[in-house]
Amino acid sequence: MRDRAWIVAGLALFFALFTYPLWSRALRGQRGEETKLALLMPAHQADCVMPVTYMRASHMKLLILWRREVVRENIHTFRAYDGKVYNISLTGTCLGCHSKAQFCDRCHDYAGVRPLSCWTCHVDPALTAEKLK
Ligand code: HEC
Ligand code: HEC
Ligand code: HEC
Repeated sequence: MRDRAWIVAGLALFFALFTYPLWSRALRGQRGEETKLALLMPAHQADCVMPVTYMRASHMKLLILWRREVVRENIHTFRAYDGKVYNISLTGTCLGCHSKAQFCDRCHDYAGVRPLSCWTCHVDPALTAEKLK
């Protein structure tokens, strides 16, 4: 059983490394336009909450840090690298600029990242807007 876990982990790592050139190349599209992967980028925003190379590789770390700050430390604002201050919120801030379906999900599907469980609790504003129609 232990071996199997290592094999699965090894395969997952191999897959991520092996496909890296594919998705990293596909992602080097033009800002404000849809990339080859058809990631919908925010049209009227130039910058993310951290430099794009950091976000590309480590956005999940930032999200986990954000969660810890809100849940354990009662910190609700984040000063970005460019000095702008954001409210710490997955729905309100990340999805205020990004589309879950056309940005987060598209890349995760493409990169073969397993669907996230975050959305059983956190709201996708696009779906709420849809329901209210
Ligand atoms: C079981 C429900 C649940 C799941 C699943 C869940 N969260 Fe949360 N999350 C919460 C709750 C409750 C809070 C606290 C909200 C508050 O105090 O404002 C929170 C807070 C957060 C925050 C900071 C505040 C906010 O509203 O954004 C972030 C960021 C966050 N979670 C990220 C994630 C990510 C990323 C995932 C998936 C990997 C995830 N969460 C999965 C329930 C959940
Ligand atoms: C103020 C609007 C804004 C907010 C808020 C924002 N982003 Fe971004 N994000 C952008 C822009 C614009 C880019 C592209 C930046 C560039 O190309 O230099 C980007 C890039 C990214 C990328 C890299 C995409 C690629 O091309 O590989 C990821 C991943 C990402 N954001 C995730 C997040 C997450 C997760 C959050 C919340 C923690 C978030 N963003 C909050 C505007 C935003
Ligand atoms: C450019 C591609 C790309 C975009 C865009 C992107 N992600 Fe990711 N995301 C990944 C990859 C690849 C991983 C897995 C990396 C790893 O495990 O080291 C990942 C992992 C995650 C994880 C951790 C998964 C887990 O279950 O542990 C969370 C949470 C996450 N992304 C949230 C988001 C959110 C929210 C957005 C949109 C605001 C987003 N991502 C946009 C590529 C992307």
